[in-house]
Amino acid sequence: MPYRAPPTGRVREYDLRAAAATVATGKDRKEILTWGYNGSVPGPEIRAGEGDTLRVFVENRLAQSTTVHWHGLPVVNGMDGVPHVTQPPVPTGEDFSYEFRVPVAGTYLYHSHFGLQLDRGLYGPLIVEPRREELDYDREFVLLLDDWLEGLSGDSPEAALRRLQQTPSGMMGPSMMGSSETRYPLYMINGRTASDPLTLAVRRGDRVRLRLINAGAQTVFRFAVGGHRLTVTHADGQPVEHVEVDAVRLGMGERYDAMFTADAPGAWQVSAAAESGGLGRAILRYSGTLDAAPPPDHRPAELGGRLLSYRDLRDASGSVAPRDGIFDGPDRTYRLTLSGGMGGYEWTIGGQSYPDAEPLEVREGERVRLALENQSMIAHPMHLHGHFFRVENSTGHSPLKDTVLVEPHMGRAELDFIADNPGEWLFHCHNLYHMESGMARVVSYR
Ligand code: C2O
Ligand code: CU
Repeated sequence: MPYRAPPTGRVREYDLRAAAATVATGKDRKEILTWGYNGSVPGPEIRAGEGDTLRVFVENRLAQSTTVHWHGLPVVNGMDGVPHVTQPPVPTGEDFSYEFRVPVAGTYLYHSHFGLQLDRGLYGPLIVEPRREELDYDREFVLLLDDWLEGLSGDSPEAALRRLQQTPSGMMGPSMMGSSETRYPLYMINGRTASDPLTLAVRRGDRVRLRLINAGAQTVFRFAVGGHRLTVTHADGQPVEHVEVDAVRLGMGERYDAMFTADAPGAWQVSAAAESGGLGRAILRYSGTLDAAPPPDHRPAELGGRLLSYRDLRDASGSVAPRDGIFDGPDRTYRLTLSGGMGGYEWTIGGQSYPDAEPLEVREGERVRLALENQSMIAHPMHLHGHFFRVENSTGHSPLKDTVLVEPHMGRAELDFIADNPGEWLFHCHNLYHMESGMARVVSYR
């Protein structure tokens, strides 16, 4: 079994209370009411070592049911947190204990998997430390990028979904607004808006590690740090050969780890540019500098520089299969088109719209290929639960990922995985509004 780190005997315990929460927005830090874990957005950082037992006690104080999903971690099926697929939803006022052995190191995300709750702020970082850290760094920052709707001028995720459902389907697509179908008034990094940004404090000479997580519901971000290049070290938590770029593109649910050397004293824009238009930011500030921060809408030149692509990613996990070369042909291939439905706001995988969809049956031990073709006009970040897959990029060292952005207008992706974690696993678009409108299937085996 590939992703079953040997037990350390250590137990890490956390409590998550899903309930109303406030976020402060803008210069005046005006409070808006939303939902979050333990009263904040993002929720508390959960950190464990690989092989530890993680025990998370979840209390539901929302007015609707909930579940928690450990995005990217191939946990045992019963702990995966998908309502009606791996567990009954946790009703209002009740609680649920998640417990599993943490299978593999990396940068992950936990979030509610119920309805549109993720878009209200029910998410947080999940960091798994390896037994031996290979990277050498002085500082680490975990940055969660988010598009923000809730609580502003009376808007809500439910209202946004209703608006989408009322748009005639011919009008749909990125012609409207880039990669997002909804106009988000705010973009946040760690729950902070561009007018009230987070400060990343460094000293000259520091080696800095960033853990970047796209927790947005509908937004593809381009991330760059003014005045610095980034060395990408991990994709979706898994090690890749180091590659130097100016900017990184993250679909919803994707993560990258990147390092840089603090060798350019000053105050710099850390920017998360939404492909649909707006900007989230933080400030990188060297100790001792008196420089003013760049203005909120400043776009560093690096955003237009060399952008990381999937072709740049070469697996360095040394991990078990399916490894390129020893993966000579899948045992089973599913060819699946990604497209919009015929009537109204509906999205399909292989022509079927969840929950009116057949399971994708596989057998334990099989090498499975999902061959995707995007026949729609918008990109879809496709995410598989419970497994890493190889994103075939014809380098001979295709990277391991759990979420992959499939480009619009006949964009393709081939995802190869080994069926080594039996259960019922959701495979879906991580655009929350697409998932809620049918863009999901269940990969099933016992
Ligand atoms: Cu982020 Cu179905 O998950
Ligand atoms: Cu989608």
